[in-house]
Amino acid sequence: MLRHLVVPDREIEGVLSILREEDLLGIGFLIVPSSAEGFRLVPIDDAAPAALPPPLGSYEIEERKGVPDKRILADWLSQLEDLIGKELVLEKGDSWPSSHEFVSDMMIVRVDDEVAGHVSEIAEAKLRSHPHIRLILNDEGVQGEMRVRRLTPIGARDGDTIFLSKIPSRLCNTRVLVRESGIGITCDPARAFYSTKLQTERLETVVLAKRLREMLGRPIRVFDPFCGVGPAVGALLNEPELLGSLAASDLNPDAIEMLMENLSRWDNRNYPKKSVPLQRLYDDRLAGVFDATKLRNDPDLVGKWDLVLVNLPHRTIELLPEIIPLLDLDTPSLIRGRVVVPEEEIAEVNRELVRILPPLLEGEPLPSLQVKRDYSSSLRLCSFEAWIGSKIGAPTGI
Ligand SMILES: C[S@@+](CC[C@H](N)C(=O)[O-])C[C@H]1O[C@@H](n2cnc3c(N)ncnc32)[C@H](O)[C@@H]1O
Repeated sequence: MLRHLVVPDREIEGVLSILREEDLLGIGFLIVPSSAEGFRLVPIDDAAPAALPPPLGSYEIEERKGVPDKRILADWLSQLEDLIGKELVLEKGDSWPSSHEFVSDMMIVRVDDEVAGHVSEIAEAKLRSHPHIRLILNDEGVQGEMRVRRLTPIGARDGDTIFLSKIPSRLCNTRVLVRESGIGITCDPARAFYSTKLQTERLETVVLAKRLREMLGRPIRVFDPFCGVGPAVGALLNEPELLGSLAASDLNPDAIEMLMENLSRWDNRNYPKKSVPLQRLYDDRLAGVFDATKLRNDPDLVGKWDLVLVNLPHRTIELLPEIIPLLDLDTPSLIRGRVVVPEEEIAEVNRELVRILPPLLEGEPLPSLQVKRDYSSSLRLCSFEAWIGSKIGAPTGI
C-alpha cells in the first residue's frame, strides 16, 4: 500500500512542486482520480515521515495501491549504467549529480568537476528517465549582484530525438511559465533569479502576513525591494483582501520586465510591457527598477509600509539600516528576511538583529535565525521574521 495525499484539482501543481522540493514525491507512481469529485490522489514517497511538513500536513491521506508510471523506464543512474557501464558509475560514486531542480519542462543540474567529462551521458540519462523534460541545463553557479545563474544547455529533446550537442536554439528557450501555489509565474532562470525551492518560504510569508493583517485589522502595505520576477508578491496577491498597497522593485531590468508580465496576470490590471524605473503605476501600486541601497533617500517610500521582505541573503544584515526607515512605525510592522551566515555566528547575528532593529513588538518572540539548509560546508541559509512595535503605544524598549 502507498500513502496518497487527497488534493483539490486546482492545488495539484503547487503540492507537486512542494513534494519535489522536499523530495517526498512517490517517484514512479501516477497521480490518480479520487472518489471525491474535484480531488486527485498524489503518491507520497515510502520514506516520507508520518507527520508531513506544512502545508502538506493539512491534506487528508488515503492509503491505496500505487499505480506504476510505465513512462519512467528506470531511475537515471540505471540509465547512466546503461550508457557508460556499472563500474564507472560506481567509481565516481557521490560525484554524479543526484539532485536536480525542475523549472517547468526544464531540469537544472550541477555537474561536479569530477564527472564533467561525462556531461553528455549525464544529460542523456536524465532525459531518458524524465520523459516530460525538454531541456537539461548545467548550473555553473550564480553570478554577480543580480544572483543570476549561469546555465549551459547540455541536452534537449524534440519528440523522440535527443540532442546532446549542436542543440537547436528553438529548444534552448529558458523563459517559461511555472505553476506555484495556484498561480502562474513567468520566469527565466538564465536572466533573473528564480528558485522553485523557495516555495515553502513564500507560503510561510503568507501565513505571517495574514497574522499582521489580523493585528492591524486592515489589508497590509507590502514592499519587496529585492523582488526578482515577483514570486513572493504573487503568493501574497493570491490571498484575497490581504494586500492593500504594494511596491516591488529590483536592480535587474530583466527581472522587472518579467515582474510586469506577472503583475498583469495576478493583479488583473495592465502593467508596462517593458522594464521601467521604479514609479507609481496605480494609486496603490509601485513597481520598477531600483537600487535598494538608495531606498531611504526617497520620501515617497519612507515610513509607508507594514511588511518589508529582504531576500538578498549575503547582504541582508548590511542593508537593514536602509530597509528599516521604510516601515511605518506608528503601527506594528514586520521584516521578513533571509541571511547566509557561518553556523557558529548564528547566535551573534541574532543579538545583532535585536541591536539594529527598532524596539520590538511586545508579546512576539525575538527575531531568531531559522536554518533552512546548508549553503556550503560552513555557511547556513537562514530565515527570520522580526516583529516591530509601534512608536505609539507600548514599545518594549529592548
Ligand atoms: C536572492 S534574489 C531574490 C529574488 C526574489 N525575491 C525571489 O525570491 O525570487 C535577490 C534579488 O535581489 C536583486 N538585487 C541585488 N542587489 C540589489 C540592489 N542593490 N537593489 C535592488 N535589488 C537588488 C537581484 O537582482 C535579485 O533579483
